[in-house]
Amino acid sequence: MRSITLLLSGLVLAGAVAVQAATPDDAVNARKASFKQIGGAAKGTGDTLKTATPDLALIKKNAATIASLAPKVPTWFPAGTGIGKVSVKTGAKAEIWSDSAGFKLAAANFAKAAGDFKVAADSGNLDAIKAKMGALGGTCKACHDKYREKD
Ligand code: HEC
Repeated sequence: MRSITLLLSGLVLAGAVAVQAATPDDAVNARKASFKQIGGAAKGTGDTLKTATPDLALIKKNAATIASLAPKVPTWFPAGTGIGKVSVKTGAKAEIWSDSAGFKLAAANFAKAAGDFKVAADSGNLDAIKAKMGALGGTCKACHDKYREKD
Protein backbone atom coordinates (compact mmCIF):
# COMPACT_ATOMS: atom_id res chain seq x y z
CA MET A 1 0.00 0.00 0.00
CA ARG A 2 2.71 2.38 1.06
CA SER A 3 4.73 1.72 -2.08
CA ILE A 4 1.68 2.40 -4.22
CA THR A 5 1.18 5.73 -2.48
CA LEU A 6 4.83 6.56 -3.04
CA LEU A 7 4.59 5.53 -6.67
CA LEU A 8 1.49 7.67 -7.17
CA SER A 9 3.01 10.75 -5.56
CA GLY A 10 6.07 10.21 -7.74
CA LEU A 11 3.88 10.21 -10.83
CA VAL A 12 2.09 13.36 -9.72
CA LEU A 13 5.44 15.08 -9.20
CA ALA A 14 6.68 13.94 -12.60
CA GLY A 15 3.50 15.35 -14.15
CA ALA A 16 3.96 18.72 -12.44
CA VAL A 17 7.57 18.93 -13.64
CA ALA A 18 6.53 18.06 -17.19
CA VAL A 19 4.01 20.92 -17.20
CA GLN A 20 6.56 23.40 -15.89
CA ALA A 21 9.11 22.24 -18.42
CA ALA A 22 6.87 23.21 -21.36
CA THR A 23 8.55 26.17 -23.05
CA PRO A 24 6.74 29.37 -24.12
CA ASP A 25 7.10 28.16 -27.73
CA ASP A 26 5.38 24.90 -26.79
CA ALA A 27 2.51 26.83 -25.21
CA VAL A 28 2.05 28.86 -28.40
CA ASN A 29 2.13 25.80 -30.63
CA ALA A 30 -0.31 23.94 -28.41
CA ARG A 31 -2.84 26.78 -28.31
CA LYS A 32 -2.58 27.33 -32.06
CA ALA A 33 -3.36 23.64 -32.60
CA SER A 34 -6.36 23.95 -30.28
CA PHE A 35 -7.63 27.09 -32.04
CA LYS A 36 -7.23 25.24 -35.36
CA GLN A 37 -9.47 22.52 -33.97
CA ILE A 38 -12.01 25.16 -32.87
CA GLY A 39 -11.73 26.88 -36.27
CA GLY A 40 -12.21 23.60 -38.14
CA ALA A 41 -15.27 22.72 -36.07
CA ALA A 42 -16.78 26.19 -36.60
CA LYS A 43 -16.09 26.12 -40.34
CA GLY A 44 -17.49 22.60 -40.74
CA THR A 45 -20.63 23.73 -38.98
CA GLY A 46 -20.99 26.88 -41.08
CA ASP A 47 -20.45 24.91 -44.28
CA THR A 48 -23.06 22.26 -43.56
CA LEU A 49 -25.54 24.90 -42.38
CA LYS A 50 -25.34 26.43 -45.87
CA THR A 51 -26.49 23.20 -47.49
CA ALA A 52 -30.12 22.19 -48.09
CA THR A 53 -29.83 19.32 -45.61
CA PRO A 54 -27.47 20.25 -42.76
CA ASP A 55 -25.71 17.32 -41.13
CA LEU A 56 -27.06 17.43 -37.58
CA ALA A 57 -24.73 14.69 -36.33
CA LEU A 58 -21.72 16.66 -37.56
CA ILE A 59 -23.03 19.85 -35.97
CA LYS A 60 -23.52 18.02 -32.68
CA LYS A 61 -19.98 16.64 -32.80
CA ASN A 62 -18.50 20.05 -33.66
CA ALA A 63 -20.49 21.75 -30.91
CA ALA A 64 -19.15 19.24 -28.39
CA THR A 65 -15.59 19.89 -29.57
CA ILE A 66 -15.96 23.66 -29.23
CA ALA A 67 -17.76 23.44 -25.88
CA SER A 68 -15.06 21.20 -24.44
CA LEU A 69 -12.20 23.48 -25.54
CA ALA A 70 -13.77 26.89 -24.89
CA PRO A 71 -13.52 26.88 -21.06
CA LYS A 72 -9.79 26.12 -21.36
CA VAL A 73 -8.88 29.22 -23.40
CA PRO A 74 -7.71 31.33 -20.40
CA THR A 75 -5.19 28.61 -19.48
CA TRP A 76 -3.55 28.76 -22.92
CA PHE A 77 -1.94 32.15 -22.38
CA PRO A 78 0.78 31.95 -19.74
CA ALA A 79 2.76 35.16 -19.27
CA GLY A 80 5.64 35.57 -21.69
CA THR A 81 3.95 33.91 -24.69
CA GLY A 82 2.90 36.99 -26.65
CA ILE A 83 4.21 38.65 -29.80
CA GLY A 84 7.93 39.38 -29.53
CA LYS A 85 8.45 37.03 -26.58
CA VAL A 86 8.62 33.70 -28.39
CA SER A 87 10.54 32.41 -31.38
CA VAL A 88 7.52 30.85 -33.12
CA LYS A 89 4.89 32.89 -34.95
CA THR A 90 2.09 34.10 -32.73
CA GLY A 91 -0.78 36.52 -33.09
CA ALA A 92 -1.24 36.97 -29.33
CA LYS A 93 -1.23 40.72 -28.62
CA ALA A 94 0.24 42.26 -25.47
CA GLU A 95 -3.29 43.42 -24.53
CA ILE A 96 -4.09 39.83 -23.48
CA TRP A 97 -1.90 40.46 -20.44
CA SER A 98 -2.12 44.24 -20.02
CA ASP A 99 -5.95 44.05 -20.13
CA SER A 100 -6.30 40.59 -18.61
CA ALA A 101 -9.74 41.35 -17.13
CA GLY A 102 -11.04 42.21 -20.60
CA PHE A 103 -9.46 39.11 -22.10
CA LYS A 104 -10.91 36.86 -19.41
CA LEU A 105 -14.34 38.39 -20.00
CA ALA A 106 -14.04 37.76 -23.76
CA ALA A 107 -13.07 34.15 -23.00
CA ALA A 108 -15.98 33.77 -20.55
CA ASN A 109 -18.45 35.16 -23.13
CA PHE A 110 -17.08 32.64 -25.62
CA ALA A 111 -17.40 29.72 -23.18
CA LYS A 112 -21.00 30.72 -22.40
CA ALA A 113 -21.87 30.99 -26.11
CA ALA A 114 -20.21 27.63 -26.77
CA GLY A 115 -22.37 26.05 -24.05
CA ASP A 116 -25.52 27.63 -25.49
CA PHE A 117 -24.57 26.44 -28.96
CA LYS A 118 -24.09 22.88 -27.70
CA VAL A 119 -27.57 22.92 -26.09
CA ALA A 120 -29.03 24.08 -29.42
CA ALA A 121 -27.05 21.47 -31.39
CA ASP A 122 -28.21 18.70 -29.06
CA SER A 123 -31.82 19.86 -29.47
CA GLY A 124 -31.57 19.44 -33.26
CA ASN A 125 -33.62 22.62 -33.80
CA LEU A 126 -32.10 24.25 -36.87
CA ASP A 127 -33.39 27.76 -36.14
CA ALA A 128 -31.90 27.64 -32.64
CA ILE A 129 -28.66 26.18 -34.02
CA LYS A 130 -28.32 29.01 -36.55
CA ALA A 131 -29.08 31.70 -33.95
CA LYS A 132 -26.62 30.30 -31.40
CA MET A 133 -23.98 29.73 -34.07
CA GLY A 134 -24.27 33.40 -35.02
CA ALA A 135 -23.90 34.46 -31.38
CA LEU A 136 -20.92 32.13 -30.99
CA GLY A 137 -19.21 33.58 -34.06
CA GLY A 138 -19.69 37.04 -32.59
CA THR A 139 -17.65 36.04 -29.53
CA CYS A 140 -14.77 34.75 -31.71
CA LYS A 141 -14.70 38.05 -33.56
CA ALA A 142 -14.98 40.18 -30.42
CA CYS A 143 -11.86 38.55 -28.99
CA HIS A 144 -9.90 38.47 -32.24
CA ASP A 145 -10.61 42.16 -32.93
CA LYS A 146 -9.02 43.19 -29.65
CA TYR A 147 -6.50 40.54 -28.75
CA ARG A 148 -5.29 38.86 -31.94
CA GLU A 149 -2.92 40.41 -34.46
CA LYS A 150 -4.20 40.04 -38.01
CA ASP A 151 -1.99 37.98 -40.32
C1 HEC B 1 -10.82 34.98 -25.71
C2 HEC B 1 -10.20 35.22 -27.01
C3 HEC B 1 -10.51 34.34 -28.20
C4 HEC B 1 -11.70 33.75 -28.55
C5 HEC B 1 -13.02 33.82 -27.84
C6 HEC B 1 -11.45 33.04 -29.78
N1 HEC B 1 -10.15 33.19 -30.16
FE1 HEC B 1 -9.31 32.43 -31.82
N2 HEC B 1 -7.51 33.18 -31.24
C7 HEC B 1 -7.29 34.02 -30.18
C8 HEC B 1 -5.91 34.42 -30.12
C9 HEC B 1 -5.28 35.36 -29.11
C10 HEC B 1 -5.28 33.77 -31.20
C11 HEC B 1 -3.80 33.82 -31.58
C12 HEC B 1 -3.05 32.66 -30.92
C13 HEC B 1 -1.57 32.69 -31.25
O1 HEC B 1 -1.22 32.94 -32.44
O2 HEC B 1 -0.76 32.43 -30.34
C14 HEC B 1 -6.32 32.99 -31.88
C15 HEC B 1 -6.11 32.20 -33.00
C16 HEC B 1 -7.08 31.56 -33.72
C17 HEC B 1 -6.86 30.81 -34.93
C18 HEC B 1 -5.50 30.61 -35.62
C19 HEC B 1 -4.78 29.40 -35.10
C20 HEC B 1 -3.43 29.22 -35.79
O3 HEC B 1 -3.26 28.21 -36.47
O4 HEC B 1 -2.58 30.11 -35.68
C21 HEC B 1 -8.08 30.34 -35.35
C22 HEC B 1 -8.37 29.50 -36.58
C23 HEC B 1 -9.05 30.80 -34.39
N3 HEC B 1 -8.43 31.53 -33.41
C24 HEC B 1 -10.41 30.54 -34.48
C25 HEC B 1 -11.33 30.91 -33.51
C26 HEC B 1 -12.75 30.62 -33.60
C27 HEC B 1 -13.44 29.96 -34.78
C28 HEC B 1 -13.31 31.09 -32.45
C29 HEC B 1 -14.75 31.02 -32.02
C30 HEC B 1 -15.51 29.81 -32.29
C31 HEC B 1 -12.24 31.70 -31.67
N4 HEC B 1 -11.06 31.55 -32.35
C32 HEC B 1 -12.42 32.31 -30.44
C33 HEC B 1 -8.24 34.43 -29.27
C34 HEC B 1 -9.55 34.00 -29.23
